[in-house]
Amino acid sequence: MTNKELGHRPVLIEEVIEQLGPKDNETYIDATFGYGGYTERILQSCECKVIAIDRDPTVKKQAERFKKKYGSRFSFVHSKFSQIDKISKKTKEKEINGFVFDIGVSSMQLDDANRGFSFMQDGPLDMRMSQDGQTASDLINKKDKDELADILYHYGDERNSRKIARNIEKHRTQKKIESTIELAEIIKKSFPSKYYKKHPATKTFQAIRIFINNEIQELHAGLNQAFNLVRANGKICVVTFHSIEDRLVKNFTNKVCLKNKKTKLIKPSSKEVLSNPRSRSAKLRVIKRERLNFNYIPISELGFEL
Ligand SMILES: C[S@@+](CC[C@H](N)C(=O)[O-])C[C@H]1O[C@@H](n2cnc3c(N)ncnc32)[C@H](O)[C@@H]1O
Repeated sequence: MTNKELGHRPVLIEEVIEQLGPKDNETYIDATFGYGGYTERILQSCECKVIAIDRDPTVKKQAERFKKKYGSRFSFVHSKFSQIDKISKKTKEKEINGFVFDIGVSSMQLDDANRGFSFMQDGPLDMRMSQDGQTASDLINKKDKDELADILYHYGDERNSRKIARNIEKHRTQKKIESTIELAEIIKKSFPSKYYKKHPATKTFQAIRIFINNEIQELHAGLNQAFNLVRANGKICVVTFHSIEDRLVKNFTNKVCLKNKKTKLIKPSSKEVLSNPRSRSAKLRVIKRERLNFNYIPISELGFEL
């Protein structure tokens, strides 16, 4: 189902608003604006301000609509959330009361075949959220076979990574791999059985997307900077969609939260999963700033070696 057919449905929105608890005259940062589902609910819940960030230039039109509707209560910055420090300095906002991160790819990005995020529809092998830098095609056609296998293993938990990388290499020596369906077919042939629970290309596509968009490094930098910036007792609500990102958020939470005060994992209700199947793998973690002294946490202390 496309986003249009679904209507825009921000995942875990009730839970995020309940946890964030927006209040009049406070300022929040929505680090992943997208179609503005979270921003809109925050702005509607009280007379607060939202600074929204997104790296994808295609969301600017939606940001303009929000600007017309909410005036000075809303501002948009086209940037990455690894730049939160710089953004907050530029906006001169004295106090940030809370953050929301809704990590990953949006329905708009996924449903647009030309962006190349989906193996369900044919499109160019692109997958760049910011629309700059190396494309998925560069990675698939140029990367050394063993390095490619490592990427699929580390960023996609793909156990079949060596075989997939071998097959990719075999194909690309004959012809450049150009489209999403072409790649999905090569991956499919790397699996023994025709009967799968999930499409066999799921993990490989996830790994390529995470790698070319630097998503783990972005999340690591974004969490550190948000935690450093949020005011005392402010909250950072993070929604993730797969275990690699969730592991980083969980480990970060365990490092910065006081002992015995770790917040529980919040998952969508069965009602939400039924009405929006894309929400089924979503997880919300809430990081509260109770500890005031804070030193940047290196990625190696969060169980990642990148
Ligand atoms: C799941 S969508 C967010 C949807 C949004 N919460 C809504 O309700 O419409 C994720 C968005 O975050 C953006 N994004 C992903 N990584 C980012 C980063 N490092 N910095 C800024 N934006 C990012 C993507 O471009 C995408 O638009």
